[in-house]
Amino acid sequence: MRYYRDTWADIDLDALQYNIKSLEKHHQKALIAIIKANAYGHGDDMIAKKALASGAKILAVSSLDEALSLRYKHIKGPILVLGHVSPSDIHVAIAEKISVTVTSYAWAKAILKEDLTGLVAHLKIDTGMNRMGLKTLEEVLEVLHDFDQAGVITEGLYTHFASSDDPKEIQTQAQYELFEAMFHKINRSFKWIHCSNSDAAIHFDTPLCNAVRIGLALFGYSSFEFDLKPVMTLKTKLVNVKTIQAGETVSYGATYTAPHTEIIATIPIGYADGWNRKHQGDVCYIGDSACEFIGRICMDQCMIRLDQLYPEGTEVELLGKKASIYPMSKHLETIPYEILTQLSDRIPKVYLEKCKPINTINPRLIKKED
Ligand SMILES: Cc1ncc(COP(=O)(O)O)c(C=O)c1O
Repeated sequence: MRYYRDTWADIDLDALQYNIKSLEKHHQKALIAIIKANAYGHGDDMIAKKALASGAKILAVSSLDEALSLRYKHIKGPILVLGHVSPSDIHVAIAEKISVTVTSYAWAKAILKEDLTGLVAHLKIDTGMNRMGLKTLEEVLEVLHDFDQAGVITEGLYTHFASSDDPKEIQTQAQYELFEAMFHKINRSFKWIHCSNSDAAIHFDTPLCNAVRIGLALFGYSSFEFDLKPVMTLKTKLVNVKTIQAGETVSYGATYTAPHTEIIATIPIGYADGWNRKHQGDVCYIGDSACEFIGRICMDQCMIRLDQLYPEGTEVELLGKKASIYPMSKHLETIPYEILTQLSDRIPKVYLEKCKPINTINPRLIKKED
């Protein structure tokens, strides 16, 4: 598959494997690879395949649609949906062998109307995030009893930390203790017990658990110092290079005025690609040279200031080792998660192994078969 606009994301599958191995050495638990939101913008099926080949035991996504997207792309491994599944759609999960999360007591009661034979479930305990899960022991025991009667296989017990990026771990510790106490009171074994996301898997010990749910760190990022490699490098090429004179303005609204003669270039990425208007004033890189985004980011293009004349066709790194996501997040007043997941499917992905392209996916050029 090809692409015809020179803006693309290189996805280094060896870096993904490196991160999985590096994390595994540290947490020594089974990996539940969190690949929701199109694998944090990296492409769900290619990341799923590599994660499973690198040892992930379960893939987790946010919705039945995301799970089915993987099944339709022939991903056969175990898949867990972390978010809400409509009770009336539970037969789809059963038919496609997709595990579900018990997101509330009312939900657990509602699905009892369906034939649940063969359904695999993970029970979520709400220990303080107040987003999803059961809160009381009575609810948990009743649901487990109902599920046993209905032929549901309740193979997992989990919770989710609200402040795992806090190095002081006060809330994380409190949530873990609640979870541990609940587990002991339930007095039953589960195939999978899991609490930690990336930051917790790196920074916080959960001896009760035999699995971790890792998302962001798979792709090379964590709030804590850790040996990880960025998986995605977002690149583009200069498509228009020119000199402007002092006093000339750049882009919509004329928010940038050249203070003196400058060389500037246009690159083909804009807010329709998920390249937020707040990038104005931030930098991208040509080799080691930082180039500032000047003037407003347009829908499909934006302008950068060059330190010297480069020919049209010169490669620019927008996000990667040089154009690091952390200073970028600060500039955009956001978090790496948002930057990665906002990148639109207008950006083709080139998957690399041993530095060689093995597949290119350009979602906008997939031909309809019927
Ligand atoms: C329930 C749950 N577990 C794990 C994760 C993975 O988190 P992270 O990307 O920080 O590893 C998420 C992501 O939001 C989540 O919602």
